[in-house]
Amino acid sequence: MANPGSSLGLGGNGGDLITVVAVGPGNPDMLTLQGRDALLKADLVIGFQTVLNVVRPWLENTEVRPMTYRDQEEVLQYAEGQSQRGKRCVVCCWGDLTVSASELLARVHRRAHNVELINGVSSIQVALSRAEISLEDTVFVTLHKRSDTTSDVEELAHYLKERRRHIVLLPRPYDLMPAAIATALLDSGIRDEVPVTVYQRLTLADEQCWTGSLRDCSEVEEDFSDLSIMVFRRC
Ligand SMILES: C[S@@+](CC[C@H](N)C(=O)[O-])C[C@H]1O[C@@H](n2cnc3c(N)ncnc32)[C@H](O)[C@@H]1O
Repeated sequence: MANPGSSLGLGGNGGDLITVVAVGPGNPDMLTLQGRDALLKADLVIGFQTVLNVVRPWLENTEVRPMTYRDQEEVLQYAEGQSQRGKRCVVCCWGDLTVSASELLARVHRRAHNVELINGVSSIQVALSRAEISLEDTVFVTLHKRSDTTSDVEELAHYLKERRRHIVLLPRPYDLMPAAIATALLDSGIRDEVPVTVYQRLTLADEQCWTGSLRDCSEVEEDFSDLSIMVFRRC
């Protein structure tokens, strides 16, 4: 039985609360207990389909609305209306909500006065642990954004020349993937032999790790997964 209180009108959340649950890096076992609890109590759960797939086991008796980039505002508007009626509404996001999720968070904040945030495990944390490096020794750069990334690539080249810290990088599906990034870095004067590791589909059954030089990476012809993280270890 799910959703106690959902039929009691404003008995659900008191009105105007939306909870954001970060679901982790893909393996459902990595959802936090707090996140699972919020999902089990929810009347409505929304999110991108791939994200909802991770938490499917906990949504059996819950209204679920997948959204796409195109209709996300309409789905969020529906959630806003439901939350104002006292329904418990959850928006799911991938990984953790502190990493490359600010656009979705801003949209949620525009829809509710009260936003509860439930953290998850980020794919970045998993990549760091696979590479056995610490966050405090690392620079994080994301190209996973809509805006122009020219200055981010320049900044990345700067850090690579400096080599004071490891670099963890999110590519951008599908126009700025590892091979294209490697080519751009070579063009900006980074040496061919700089080692790079690409972690793909971390925590999922088909997780993979590719390692080679920057030049090798630029020449890879098969597609890397859209779930890829590049790691450049400092020397
Ligand atoms: C929009 S960002 C969101 C990151 C997410 N908030 C997090 O904390 O993991 C999505 C990007 O994260 C990376 N990513 C997310 N999950 C991953 C996984 N399981 N394995 C490898 N990369 C992953 C990929 O680069 C993907 O394109």
